[in-house]
Amino acid sequence: MIIQPRTRGFICLTCHPVGTANNVKKQIQYVQSQGAIENGPKKVLVIGASTGFGLSSRIAAAYGSGAATIGVFHGKAPSKGKTANAGWYNTAAFENDAAKDGLYAKSVHGDAFSMEVKEAAAALIKKDLGTVDLIVYSLAAPKRLDPISGTNFSSVLKPIGAPFSNKTVDFHAGTVSNITIQPVEKQEEIDNTIKVMGGEDWKLWIEVLEKAGVLGENVKTVAYSYIGPELTFPIYKNGTIGQAKIDLEKTVPTLNDLMKDVHGAAYVSVNKALVTQSSSAIPVVPLYISLLYKIMKEKGIHEGTIEQAYRLFKERLYTADGAVPVDEAGRIRIDDWEMRDDVQAEVSKLWDIATSENLAEISDIEGYRNEFFELFGFNDPTIDYDVEVDEIVPIASLEK
Ligand code: NAI
Repeated sequence: MIIQPRTRGFICLTCHPVGTANNVKKQIQYVQSQGAIENGPKKVLVIGASTGFGLSSRIAAAYGSGAATIGVFHGKAPSKGKTANAGWYNTAAFENDAAKDGLYAKSVHGDAFSMEVKEAAAALIKKDLGTVDLIVYSLAAPKRLDPISGTNFSSVLKPIGAPFSNKTVDFHAGTVSNITIQPVEKQEEIDNTIKVMGGEDWKLWIEVLEKAGVLGENVKTVAYSYIGPELTFPIYKNGTIGQAKIDLEKTVPTLNDLMKDVHGAAYVSVNKALVTQSSSAIPVVPLYISLLYKIMKEKGIHEGTIEQAYRLFKERLYTADGAVPVDEAGRIRIDDWEMRDDVQAEVSKLWDIATSENLAEISDIEGYRNEFFELFGFNDPTIDYDVEVDEIVPIASLEK
């Protein structure tokens, strides 16, 4: 079929299999150009492996230290006349490349919040790898069916206590406007967001893996978080999602305890703000990202998910002397360049003056838009989007 972008707000309904495969290749080439991660992980489980930080973590592990990887993801398979989602095509492409390069890569497709998928992943590890030495937890989801209570929880992106008014951008149109987001009305909204994006499911995963005896000696597990600048605090750090991230951090000692027999260690890594399917859904944040990109690119310190994942592995989780550098709260900080005083001072100046009229000039809104479309395999100059492509792309390890 001929596949062109079809968007609805911050969602792209179509996806190009060749463009997404090229994205995966570019990420692989980046890691190859950077060289090996000495002492890197060898057998890795990535939960949320198909897009964003999870996909890049999988690629960094596979191509940085030759790791065998099992990726858990929830995607949409293609059907005649309907494209798959990006996660599906990315996973298919990654498995193909890995197979060609002699790297073990298999995927578990389904709801990572369910016990069935956890048990299927544990069984696959046991059968094929014996144990894992790294578990990356990189889920971003709006809903979670709690397998214990059977209740469906929905997360919300809201401030707590008072309404939050600030600038936001429609990145398609490039227009800046003011938005007011009403605070949560009930504690339940905070609790439900914690249920979806907090540490409970991460803990369930480690419990299942521990019980199955598939945690290797000195296993590490890392989950991703975000803090960001003061201007997004009401909607992020101090909002409902921030409470879920605090819960993630609170889970770390419990996981360390669960993994003590194998001398395991759990970490929360605070990452940089980046264009992904999840971050484009948060009000205010896309405007901040488009200004941040401008400044970080000018300073030559811009990173995408693959640069972040590689640096996380090489300079934080698997350093030459084995020490994992953390901040005063025990968190890994890979948002250090984003949070530099000079970067934040310049973003803040631009924030104050940003309008629809000057946005194209003072921000990298074009870069934002391009990256958004690239997530779905569009805007690739090597592809003619008027040419038919086969939308049916299987994932090798999921073929019966
Ligand atoms: P993303 O939307 O690109 O990736 C989410 C992944 O979760 C995908 O692989 C998807 O298939 C998987 N997933 C979602 N629900 C699932 C389910 N029920 N079962 C199985 N898989 C499921 O998001 P992104 O941005 O990479 O987020 C990953 C983590 O990184 C999140 O915890 C997020 O808060 C964090 N983070 C994101 C930042 C950003 O700016 N994008 C910054 C710092 C942290």
